[in-house]
Amino acid sequence: MCATDAPGPATLVVIPTYDEREALPGTLARLRAAVPHAHALVVDDSSPDGTGRWAQQEASRDDHVHVLHRAGKQGLGPAYLAGFSWGLERGYEVLVEMDADASHRPEQLPGLMEAVRRGADLAIGSRWVPGGRVHDWPLRRLLLSRAANAYVRIMMGLSVRDATAGFRAFRAELLRPLLADDIASQGYCFQVDMTRRARRAGAVITEVPIDFDERAEGMSKMSPAIVREALLLVTLWGLSYRAQQLSGLLRYPGRR
Ligand code: GDD
Ligand code: MN
Repeated sequence: MCATDAPGPATLVVIPTYDEREALPGTLARLRAAVPHAHALVVDDSSPDGTGRWAQQEASRDDHVHVLHRAGKQGLGPAYLAGFSWGLERGYEVLVEMDADASHRPEQLPGLMEAVRRGADLAIGSRWVPGGRVHDWPLRRLLLSRAANAYVRIMMGLSVRDATAGFRAFRAELLRPLLADDIASQGYCFQVDMTRRARRAGAVITEVPIDFDERAEGMSKMSPAIVREALLLVTLWGLSYRAQQLSGLLRYPGRR
């Protein structure tokens, strides 16, 4: 069961991992120090480098750490969905997404939690609002992130500046109905998918500026297949959103 030792709502930080044996210990230690009442759930896809085994050992000596083992690399989206279901079943009130490689600073999690406390259903740690920063990312990744976000804004009319961000806090009341949908996105476009579903549900979405640090250990799992999936799905979602807008306009010409 989830803890109630908390100054604040019961919080679960879901951390998906694939080959993060070097980076995860530091990230978890920083998280435990920064937000001691929060629980962490490592969702590991049978990492060949033993990340899951290490997390299992950690869970056996720290009752705030949990592990979900999955058979083989199945993508970021399915890992988060499994982690969220695990957390909702156990009554957590706020569910957080965070990368294992310390690109997201655990010390900035209280900022996201504060935004939820002030009324956000979804607080997004954003690189692309004033005050947000990216440190040491190669130009290629900077351009990819900017281009992806511009495309999402144009195609889908989303006002969120960092729709692909992976540092987020969801209120359980928002997440529960979203998970009832059939969410098929596998790669990093899962983030965009959740953002558009949150908007459709009428959620209050707040962006909080964060610092994003390039990972110091291990490697990014970003791949051409992930980029292709994102391009295809964002295009399809955009077209369906615009078609809906158009049919609304034709039916009610006076309304916008
Ligand atoms: N369980 C599991 N399964 N975890 C995965 C998988 C998978 O198939 N693929 C990636 N991960 C984990 C990584 O181990 C890491 O903890 C986290 O997901 C993010 O993966 P990275 O490979 O480090 O992502 P990135 O740094 O290239 O991308 C960042 O920017 C993207 C675009 O803005 C992340 O913040 C993404 O979340 C974000 O969408
Ligand atoms: Mn990363």
